[in-house]
Amino acid sequence: MSGDAPRAEWAGEEPLVFELSRDYTGGPREVASGVPERPLGDLLPGVRLRAEPPPIPSIAEPVLARHVGRLARRNHHLHHGIYPLGSCTMKYNPVVDEQLAGLPGFADIHPYQDEDDVQGALQVMWELERLLAELTGMARFTLQPAAGAHGEWTGLRMIQAHHASRGDRDRTRVVIPDSAHGTNPASATLAGLEVVTVRSTREGTVDVDDLRSRLDPSVAAIMLTNPNTLGVFERDILEIAEVAHRNGSLLYYDGANLNALVGVARPGDMGFDVVHLNLHKTFSTPHGGGGPGSGPVGVAEALARFLPTPIVERDGDRFRLDRDRPHSIGKVRAHHGNFGMLVRAYAYLRAYGSDIPEVARDAVLNARYLASRLGDLFPPAVPSPCMHELVVSTRGSRAPGLRALDVAKRLLDHGVYAPTTYFPTTVPEALMFEPTETESKRSLDQLADICAGIVAEAERDLAHVQAAPHTTPIRRVDEVAAARHPVLRWTAEP
Ligand SMILES: Cc1ncc(COP(=O)(O)O)c(C=O)c1O
Repeated sequence: MSGDAPRAEWAGEEPLVFELSRDYTGGPREVASGVPERPLGDLLPGVRLRAEPPPIPSIAEPVLARHVGRLARRNHHLHHGIYPLGSCTMKYNPVVDEQLAGLPGFADIHPYQDEDDVQGALQVMWELERLLAELTGMARFTLQPAAGAHGEWTGLRMIQAHHASRGDRDRTRVVIPDSAHGTNPASATLAGLEVVTVRSTREGTVDVDDLRSRLDPSVAAIMLTNPNTLGVFERDILEIAEVAHRNGSLLYYDGANLNALVGVARPGDMGFDVVHLNLHKTFSTPHGGGGPGSGPVGVAEALARFLPTPIVERDGDRFRLDRDRPHSIGKVRAHHGNFGMLVRAYAYLRAYGSDIPEVARDAVLNARYLASRLGDLFPPAVPSPCMHELVVSTRGSRAPGLRALDVAKRLLDHGVYAPTTYFPTTVPEALMFEPTETESKRSLDQLADICAGIVAEAERDLAHVQAAPHTTPIRRVDEVAAARHPVLRWTAEP
């Protein structure tokens, strides 16, 4: 889609559900539950009750249904078009996985049910753990963490427990590359560790000499993702692992980029000791809009006793939850994490079976194809060949003054979700594209043609591109004001 006329489905501003609730005309009737009503005061102590009822919107069902329908049409999603958001692996989520996760035997069970009633669910967890262990070369996994960042924190807590169990209590620092995802230093800080930054080379990989100079007995771990956030494979990974281990430090694998390697290479074989995976990326469970995610963490045998409790064990044909784990770091999330995501990832993995390396190969092929199509438009951030994602810069494009933000915003006018911008922070005017294996050559060509059109347009009329988007319900926002003075909550007009 192109042109600057607002799209029909986006015409007009969509009121909030609170504003719509002013026209309440009564909704369809509900079937009476048959449960006798009791005054709230019988159930809760009076001091806990609010004096006024909360301002919950009252809205007729058809009005609500149309409101949600309009919002859904405005939303960008994979049923609408390509979603090349770098570092996020926004691949298509197979419908069959949704259907399987919705089966009553999975969707309607309760975490407090007897183990004998939920043997199938426990079996899925047990088998998923084995599959993840096989794919990563780790000994055991916890399935509890609810996101990649949560997995990072969980993994670092286990690394701390490992050092503490050896009486090595002075390891208080974590070495992280300058190109790392922001969650890495954030998780380290939340775990009470100090972050030490290591430089990248001009090729975009970890500068091993700089790394060596940062290592001393205070370093608990080195956190890396491979391929890294520049989409470049860390060729020196075996040397890095050796250097880390010689220093008594552990090597942490941020698995957000596993889509480039899944089934082809294993972090465990590269020397990593702890690994988190983003099921909502590599294993195609839906994400965006805030979750629910799933960030299982795998560990080498020496750290298995520290895994969060419980884990699923198998005794013959029976599966059980093992809660008797005296060295565990404890629970990191209620019950068993986002169980529905585990079912989807399991279904996805079983569908591919031993063909899973195709995912990685096609993801890399697609990214390299797109890199070759975009190469004339935007210079690559680094000279190394990309893996599953590519980082380019609008600096040096044929249209001087064209910024990454302008390209991202103008893409929205063409019905394309914007790539990741200004990340990694080491690359000026960065655009990071991750097409994933689920895009066809045709859709990659369309994306490249649209980018070429934007550069040509910027050469003719930069101001028009700088004012984009022109067709969306909300036009160019003041990003600084939005960051500095965010309005996060609707309040009724006085
Ligand atoms: C490289 C990298 N590490 C970590 C994360 C954090 O994962 P999550 O968003 O699941 O917390 C991301 C997310 O985009 C990422 O790209």
